[in-house]
Amino acid sequence: GNENSGRNPLILPEYACQRATCLKHFNHKFTKALEILQKHAELRDNERDSSRALAFRRASCVLKSLPFPLTSMSQLKNLTNIGDHCKRVIQEILEDGECREVNELQDDWFQKMVVFTNIFGIGSATAKKWIEKGWSTIKEAQEGYISSDWRVRWGLAFHTDLNTPVNLQEAQYIQQIVRKEAETILPGIILQITGGFRRGKEEGHDVDILMTHPEEGKEVGLLARLLQRLQNKGIILCGNLEKSTYSDEMLTLDSKLSAKGQLDHFEKWLGIIKIPHSCSENPAMDYSGSLSIISSCVHKGTGCSVDNSTCCTASEQPLNYQPLNLDESLDLESKAKKQKLGTENEISPMELAKLDRNWIARRVDLIVSPYDQYFYALVGWTGNKQFNRDIRTYAQRELGMKLSSHGLYDLNKNCALPARSEKEVFQNMKLQYIEPWERNC
Ligand code: CTP
Ligand code: MN
Ligand code: MN
Ligand code: MN
Repeated sequence: GNENSGRNPLILPEYACQRATCLKHFNHKFTKALEILQKHAELRDNERDSSRALAFRRASCVLKSLPFPLTSMSQLKNLTNIGDHCKRVIQEILEDGECREVNELQDDWFQKMVVFTNIFGIGSATAKKWIEKGWSTIKEAQEGYISSDWRVRWGLAFHTDLNTPVNLQEAQYIQQIVRKEAETILPGIILQITGGFRRGKEEGHDVDILMTHPEEGKEVGLLARLLQRLQNKGIILCGNLEKSTYSDEMLTLDSKLSAKGQLDHFEKWLGIIKIPHSCSENPAMDYSGSLSIISSCVHKGTGCSVDNSTCCTASEQPLNYQPLNLDESLDLESKAKKQKLGTENEISPMELAKLDRNWIARRVDLIVSPYDQYFYALVGWTGNKQFNRDIRTYAQRELGMKLSSHGLYDLNKNCALPARSEKEVFQNMKLQYIEPWERNC
C-alpha cells in the first residue's frame, strides 16, 4: 500500500513474508559475501554474534528480492534492513569486485569450523574444542573422538556419504519407499516432501517428509509402525524417534515456538537410511531386489546396538519401535537367539561405512502432524528458516498473533485461527500467498 511503490520499484516490503525471494536472483555476488559474514558470526556463537548473524541474513534476503542487479549505492536508499556494516561490504564489492573483510574471514579457523559443524550432531562448541586440540580434518576426529551421541558416531562414520548432496531423484525415491509403506499401514495418508526440495532446490542435505491423515487421530502410532517396517526391510541405519510433546497451551505460551526458535512438538524421527547407489539413475524403478541386497548386509540396523550402554542419553530413545507390531508369537528362546544373531552380526558404523557396498547413507526427517495443524506444519517445515523467522516476527509485531508449526493464535481475540489449506494460513495473516519456491530467503 505505499503510494511510491508504483513509481519507485526500490521500495520493498519490510518482511520477507511480504515479498518473493527466489533461488535465482540478480545479486549473488553480494548475498554470498553477506552470508559468509552471517556464517562466521553464527560459528563464533555468542549472544551478540547471533543478532549480528541475523542482521547479515536480513540484508542478504532483501538483496535476493531486488528485481535487478545492484549497480550503485543510491539504489539502496529506500531499502530497509541494510545496516551500515552491510553497506560498507556492498560498496566495497561494487568498487573492487570483492570485500577484504569477507576474504579475511575465510581463514583456517573458519574453514575447519565449517567442515566440523557439517558433521551430523556436531555444533560450534564441539568444533571449537576440536580445533583447540589441533585437529583440522575429519580423519582426525574419526580416529580421536569417542562420542556417546549416536548422531556423531554415525555422522563421523558416514561423513563422506552425508556430505554428498541428496539430489531430487534420490529424494523422490525415498518419498516413494516411505509412501508405499505408510499407505500399507494407513490408507488415505497424506505425505509431502517439505524443506528445500519443496522450495525448488535441486539438492539438499536431507529429505524432509511431513505426514498426516484427514481423519483426526488416525495418524497416532503411524510413525512407530512405519519405522518398524522400514527397519524390517533393512533400510534404517540409525535414528531417534521423538514422541509428540504438544498440548494446546503451547499455541499461546511456549517460548520455544517464538520467532527465534525453530522447535516444534510434533512426533518425529530424525535418522539415517540407506538407498541404492543406482536409484538416482531411475527413481521410478522398483528396487525391492536391490533393497534385499541392502538388507542382507551384515548390519542389523539399530542406532543403539553398537554399544547399547552408551548410545542413548535420557532424551534419546533406542531405535526400538515396539510394543506396536511386536511379534507375539516369538517365544523367549527364539527371541534370545535372534538377539544373539543380531549381536554377532553387529559391526561398528565406521566398519560398515568402509565395506564395499552398493548403497549410500542419507539423512531423513519424518514428521507427523495432526490434520488440524497440518497446514501450519507444512509452512513451518517448508521454511526456509529465515522465512519462518520473518513470518513469525511479522505475526507477532504486526498482528499480535503467535505463529508456529502448530497453528496461529490471535492474542487479542484469544482464539486460534484454523486453516484448511496453505493459502488459508497466509489469508489468516492478511498476507498475499507466497509460493514455496518464493520462500528462499
Ligand atoms: N524446521 C523446523 N523445525 C525443526 C527443524 C527444521 O521447523 N526442528 C524447518 C526449518 O526451518 C526448515 C525446514 O524445516 O525450513 C527444513 O529443515 P532443514 O532440513 O534443516 O533445512 P532445508 O531448508 O530443507 O535445507 P536442506 O536442503 O539443506 O535440507
Ligand atoms: Mn551440525
Ligand atoms: Mn531439508
Ligand atoms: Mn531436515
